Amino acid sequence: MTELKRIGILTSGGDAPGMNAAIRAAVRGCIYYGIVPVVIQEGFKGLIENNMDVADARSVANIINLGGTFLKSARCQEFRSKEGRTKAYENARAAELGGLIVIGGDGSFTGAMLLEEEHGLPCIGVPGTIDNDIYGSDYTIGYDTALNTVVEAIDKIRDTATSHNRLFFIEVMGRDAGFIALNTGIASGAEDILIPEQEKNVEAFMESLKNSGRAGKTSSIIVVAEGDRGGGGVFELSRAVEEQFPEYEVKVTVLGHIQRGGKPSCFDRVLASRLGVAAVEALRNGDSGVMVGVRDQQVVKTPLERAISKHNQIDSTLMKVAEIVSI
Ligand code: F6P
Repeated sequence: MTELKRIGILTSGGDAPGMNAAIRAAVRGCIYYGIVPVVIQEGFKGLIENNMDVADARSVANIINLGGTFLKSARCQEFRSKEGRTKAYENARAAELGGLIVIGGDGSFTGAMLLEEEHGLPCIGVPGTIDNDIYGSDYTIGYDTALNTVVEAIDKIRDTATSHNRLFFIEVMGRDAGFIALNTGIASGAEDILIPEQEKNVEAFMESLKNSGRAGKTSSIIVVAEGDRGGGGVFELSRAVEEQFPEYEVKVTVLGHIQRGGKPSCFDRVLASRLGVAAVEALRNGDSGVMVGVRDQQVVKTPLERAISKHNQIDSTLMKVAEIVSI
């Protein structure tokens, strides 16, 4: 085995709070083990454009508490082509990178996997996305912070919803996964939660709304995952409710990118620190084409191919809890 002298580190895809903590841990993990860390700007785009620098322990000081990613992130079109990946590999080879740590979501892992398959550059994935949808880790970096951001926002909306007897539809992120919606819905006392993994048709939804009214509720919070199409999306659903229940004053709030920002929570900082170090150790160990994640409190490795092709499952007992506590 050739000696591992330099490791490239990049963040890719949608940013997530805690990515900075993961970069910091990977940089310092490299230095601890006598490896030179090379940080790459703007994800795979930076690799294609040869936009990289050697980092030292001080260059990642005072970033553990910051949201976003100081390396910047991008969804790079050029890297989707074989030519783009060849350019990226040539630059990685010229920079003498013996391995690459990719902090991102499933799109980024697909790119990493292709780079490794086509050119043999060992790649390790670190799950960084607020969606929590990556198979092979109970939690992804950024998810916990996003949950707290959403709950804080919904608490505020509840204050005004209650004051005016209004019904609010609140759309949260998650792409095609309902983790954010389900957990924040329970935590904020939502009257209903709509997620893509268990779509409810409009009739069933209207029925539960009637029940809420019969139970004496005068205001309601409905948390809707952006990927839920059972009711055709928040706006369509809100129109349908207004038609059927003219007595309700209906409002829609799309929380949007506020969910991606902010200071990472303690949980995300610790998770990111753990996985950043684990990624360096995995490369030292000769692993490649795997993602490091946490399952049952232990660091585990999952082939990138599996991490991409499968999704974490929603806990159906949580759906039941949501139903029971919202009566
Ligand atoms: O994957 C993270 C995520 O925030 C999703 O929840 C959302 O669907 C998507 O990214 C939004 O992407 P963009 O920032 O490119 O609009």
